[in-house]
Amino acid sequence: MTTLTKTSFLTAVGLGPGDPEWITVKAVRAIEQAQVVFAPRSRDGDASLALRIAEPWLRPEQRIVELALPMTRDPDLLTPAWEAAADQIAAALQPGAQGVYLLLGDPLLYGTFTYLWSELAQRHPHVQVSVVPGVTSFAAAAARAGVVLATTSERVAILPASYETDAAVLQRLLADFETVILMKVGAALPRVLDALETLGLLDAAVYAERVGMPEERIVDDLRTLRTETEPRPYLSLLIVRRSPRAPIRLPVQGAWPSTISPTSTSPTSTASPESL
Ligand SMILES: C[S@@+](CC[C@H](N)C(=O)[O-])C[C@H]1O[C@@H](n2cnc3c(N)ncnc32)[C@H](O)[C@@H]1O
Repeated sequence: MTTLTKTSFLTAVGLGPGDPEWITVKAVRAIEQAQVVFAPRSRDGDASLALRIAEPWLRPEQRIVELALPMTRDPDLLTPAWEAAADQIAAALQPGAQGVYLLLGDPLLYGTFTYLWSELAQRHPHVQVSVVPGVTSFAAAAARAGVVLATTSERVAILPASYETDAAVLQRLLADFETVILMKVGAALPRVLDALETLGLLDAAVYAERVGMPEERIVDDLRTLRTETEPRPYLSLLIVRRSPRAPIRLPVQGAWPSTISPTSTSPTSTASPESL
């Protein structure tokens, strides 16, 4: 009985990777109905990237809570930070209140929400959680670059490039899967390019960064990336495709431009905002 009267609601909302028009109708409805909007705080002190993407649908009367989430892989720092963030969410949601937690792409693909969800389930089970899926960054990148992700019996693997340090692993996966999607590329790009060159696959890959944002960049001649000295941003990925059935890129006629102009959604930092 006590639990019922205390119940509050939190929806993890996938915003898609950048263009506000990639936010689903259901996501917009969840955002509009929320009294409290949670978003991960940006590392460089700028307004949260997720908040900037969702900005066209936020209302002035909504309470915005930016959560400081850890940018570390150290479990001794991570666990207390996730616990504190879960406590903050539970405290901000009055009984009966609805909140949304905004994330880039899809909430359940390398999203911070999975940790928060688990802490909420243990510490604050009266917060009822639901999830609205979002357009993933790789689906958007494939659409923008004209890359077929898979046909018929082809297999697709998704890897976090910044954690893959062994070229042999990449080599093995590329032997087993027609398409390999490398996410979290950023600073790992030189290493990935080395591996692709060794495997003779430089011409079989497309690089995409800040997809759906004003600064979007799609590169199909990966050799040009070799000559650049600036590290590439964390919001970057590679699609490697060795299918005999379809070329790496098919002609795609421009984009459907967004009718909504978000403020620049580009994080100024190239550091890894793992809190996305
Ligand atoms: C923490 S993961 C979040 C993934 C996200 N949940 C999704 O569904 O795509 C961050 C990684 O997603 C990819 N990413 C997210 N947004 C992107 C964008 N707009 N352009 C290119 N890559 C993006 C990058 O590989 C980045 O390193």
